[in-house]
Amino acid sequence: MTLPFSVGMSLSCQENDNSVPAPDDEEPQTIEYLKEGPYPMGAALNMNALRNKEIYRNTVIREFSSITAENAMKMGSISRGRGQYFWDDADYLVNFAQEHGIRVHGHALIWYKQSSTAMPDWVKNFQGTKEDWKLIMKEYITDVMTRYKGKINSWDVVNEAIKDDGTFRTAEECIWTRNIGAPEYIDWAFQCAHEADPDALLFYNDYGHEYSAAKRAAVNHLVEGMLERGIPIHGVGLQVHTHVNRPVSDIRTAIITAAQTGLKVHVSELDVAVNKDSKADIVYTDELKQQQYDRYKTAAKAMSDLPKEQQHGITMWGVGDQDSFMYKNPDWPLPFDVNYKRKRAYEGLVDGFY
Ligand code: XIL
Repeated sequence: MTLPFSVGMSLSCQENDNSVPAPDDEEPQTIEYLKEGPYPMGAALNMNALRNKEIYRNTVIREFSSITAENAMKMGSISRGRGQYFWDDADYLVNFAQEHGIRVHGHALIWYKQSSTAMPDWVKNFQGTKEDWKLIMKEYITDVMTRYKGKINSWDVVNEAIKDDGTFRTAEECIWTRNIGAPEYIDWAFQCAHEADPDALLFYNDYGHEYSAAKRAAVNHLVEGMLERGIPIHGVGLQVHTHVNRPVSDIRTAIITAAQTGLKVHVSELDVAVNKDSKADIVYTDELKQQQYDRYKTAAKAMSDLPKEQQHGITMWGVGDQDSFMYKNPDWPLPFDVNYKRKRAYEGLVDGFY
């Protein structure tokens, strides 16, 4: 692969950003690293690799303008009891970002999942009235957001509240629905977040927009309802954990539909699996690499086509293939290989920028 990439600056980009003087004629714009793209480009980070693996850390510094904690800012990672916190990992990530001028997107304050990183035991076992549950949610959100005020300016406030059929997770499935009610717990979480840090951009994050029309409609319906109720919400996060067996156009449809809310759009957890069915004998062929390229390019292009003020950026769910939570499938879903070399997928992102 030859670098740097040369990409033609198209009219749509100039239209989107009037502050940038029009380049002379067809003067190509050179993108040497993803962070030079037209909107923030990010990755979810693993704390162990960030602390101990030099090539990983250097790749992040060189390529990205935004980072998300893959697990370190989830409630199960931070909360050790009511009013008790483990800040080491989240602090480390925030300090790293500040040192290198990288944005941090906070992920995720409230999530239904009950795994140990997602939810601490004391919350799973908590007993109390609806008001008590609202209070523990408020305390948690306030403490975390206050600590990082001015350092983390955007947060996934609620993650995955809606199922693929467009309905809210039920009382059986979600502790917050059970004890507070939906969408009331969602409204409450956003109100608490806004009170804790009025300058922070608040996102509703979910998956499946690219394959479920019901999910897309339900998310937009939720957002519109929140805006009508005066709830502060500023963005929609689309995870887009996708794979090559789905039509490329789905990714664009997901991004365009989310943008219809008028809010910011974040492709928040992008990866493109090539081995959805976990075949042990899969070969990572050039054809699969090209199919990944198409999907990365489509995501980058669809983000580019949004109005500038709606582009929160694209975050990949990992840096190199080996860091991906689906690597052992086996799979190779990310833009960098196991040695942090750029892949065809990386070129897709760059080619989609303009
Ligand atoms: C995943 C992490 O990548 C894993 O390491 C962890 O074991 C489970 O969570 N949607 C989300 C992310 O919002 O937080 C999830 O991250 C992936 C799916």
